[in-house]
Amino acid sequence: MATPSSNAFDQLLGSSPALESVIRTAQIAAATDVPILLEGETGTGKELLAKAIQQHSDRASQPLVVLNCAALPAQLVESLLFGHERGAFTGASERTDGYVHKAHGGTLFLDEMGELPLSIQAKLLRFVENGECQRVGSQHTEIIDTRIIAATHRNLNDMVRQGHFRADLFYRLCVVTIRLPPLRERSRDIARLANHFLIQAANRHQSRVARFNHDALTRLKHYPWPGNVRELKNICEYSAALMPGKVIDDNDLPPQIRDQHQPASSGFTLPEQGIDMEMLEVDLLQQALLYSHGNKSQAAKLLGLSRDTFLYRLKKHHLT
Ligand SMILES: Nc1ncnc2c1ncn2[C@@H]1O[C@H](COP(=O)(O)OP(=O)(O)OP(=O)(O)O)[C@@H](O)[C@H]1O
Ligand SMILES: [Mg+2]
Repeated sequence: MATPSSNAFDQLLGSSPALESVIRTAQIAAATDVPILLEGETGTGKELLAKAIQQHSDRASQPLVVLNCAALPAQLVESLLFGHERGAFTGASERTDGYVHKAHGGTLFLDEMGELPLSIQAKLLRFVENGECQRVGSQHTEIIDTRIIAATHRNLNDMVRQGHFRADLFYRLCVVTIRLPPLRERSRDIARLANHFLIQAANRHQSRVARFNHDALTRLKHYPWPGNVRELKNICEYSAALMPGKVIDDNDLPPQIRDQHQPASSGFTLPEQGIDMEMLEVDLLQQALLYSHGNKSQAAKLLGLSRDTFLYRLKKHHLT
C-alpha cells in the first residue's frame, strides 16, 4: 500500500494567499485520480508542485515519469509515448515500451503539454479517457493504469481557439486546473524564498550565509521577475557565490534588478487579491467630501484634482 506524504507540499515555500490557495486545491486533487492541469509562467514551480501532488497521492510509492513534450521528435513521438512492436518501422529491432508503460501504476507528468503535436493528441485523448493505448505496429489494445498531470506555460484555451490544440483533450485535462501565480503577484514571499535559496547555496558551497539588506529586498520586491522563482534562485546563487557571508546591498544586485526603473510611489500598496477600482474611487470621493465638510473645492484639493475633474467624477458616480 502506498504511503502518501503529508508534508509533500512543504518544499513549496511561501505564505501568500495565492500560493496557499494553490496548495489547498492541489492537496484535495492529489487524493483523487483525476487528471490535473498545471498552468503558469516559466519558473513558477509547476514541476515542483507536480512532484508534491504525486508524493501526496496514493501512488506515492510508484514511479513519477516525467515527459517533456517539447523535446519529443515529431516522427518518434507516438512510439516514445506508447511503445512499438518489433519491425514496426526501420530500426525497430525489438518490442519496446513507451513512457506510458513506465508510468503504469504511477503518475505520468506531461510537461510542456502545449507543445504536443496535434497528430498525437487524439491518441492521447483515448489514453487519458480510459487508459487505452496501442504500440506502434500493433493491433492489440493495452490498458495502462496511470494518473496524468499535465503542465504548460501556454494558454491552452487560446490554443484551442486558434486550432492548435484539440478541444476534447483540453476539456478532459482541465477538469482540475491549477494556476501557479507569477512571483510578482506574491511579492510577500520573496524575502522568505531569497533567504532559503541563500542558505541552500551557502550549504552547497560550504560557505558563510549571505543576506540581503532592506534596500536590496525592496529592489527584489519591485522587480517583475519574468523568470519567476527560478530567476530569484539564480540570483541568490550568484550572490551567494560572489559575496559569501556578506550583507548584500541594492548596489550589489545584478544590473537588471539594480537599474530597474522604480515607479514613483504614492505609498499605496495594491493588495495581492486586487481591488475594485470603481468602488475605491467612490470611497475616496466620499471621504474627501466628509473631511472637507462638503466643500467641493477643498475635497478636490485633497485628491489632487481640479474642481472640474472632481465635479465630473462626482457626476460619473451619481454622487451629486
Ligand atoms: N514555492 C517554491 N518554493 C521553493 N522553491 C520553488 C518554489 N517554486 C519554484 N521553486 C524552485 O524554482 C525552480 C523552478 O521551478 P519549476 O522547475 O518547478 O518551475 P516550472 O514552472 O516547471 O518552470 P518551466 O515552465 O520553466 O518548466 C526550481 O528550482 C524549484 O525548486
Ligand atoms: Mg517545468
